[in-house]
Amino acid sequence: MIATKTAAQTEAVGARLGCQLVPGDLILLEGELGAGKTTFTRGVARGAGFKGRVSSPTFALAHVYRGKRLTLHHLDMYRLADGDVSEVGLEDLLRDPKAAVIVEWPGAVAEGWPRERLEVKLAHAKAGRTLRFKARGARAKALAGKLA
Ligand SMILES: Nc1ncnc2c1ncn2[C@@H]1O[C@H](COP(=O)(O)OP(=O)(O)O)[C@@H](O)[C@H]1O
Ligand SMILES: [Mg+2]
Repeated sequence: MIATKTAAQTEAVGARLGCQLVPGDLILLEGELGAGKTTFTRGVARGAGFKGRVSSPTFALAHVYRGKRLTLHHLDMYRLADGDVSEVGLEDLLRDPKAAVIVEWPGAVAEGWPRERLEVKLAHAKAGRTLRFKARGARAKALAGKLA
């Protein structure tokens, strides 16, 4: 568990993760509205070498950040019902050989995530936020180990 007091600190944890990401990595972000999922993603994109604007793709469903080192697909499934997932073209994004994928509100897709993935649970805490990592698979374990 990591506790952060400010948005900048949450972003910094994200940046540490972003530096480590390679194509094929999948990050699922859980946590209620305002927990810091987009803030965390902003850091991940920075770590991946992306300099532009990072914002919630709530309406666009997906944003793409082309960093120097890596492409990052940023999805937000908040507005998706289970059956609409094909609209996002998730399968194609996961197969993008140059890209990692990070997903807000992954719960819209109940089943069918690749087995290898890093789950990050963000939550409000008294003095900020907490970030908890659940590594699914060896690759995710290695990633999480570098964050602790
Ligand atoms: N420790 C913290 N970590 C992340 N965000 C924080 C923190 N403290 C305050 N905030 C604020 O909370 C809000 C989080 O919003 P956002 O990242 O969009 O959440 P989500 O994507 O989970 O809905 C931002 O306005 C951010 O500045
Ligand atoms: Mg968000």
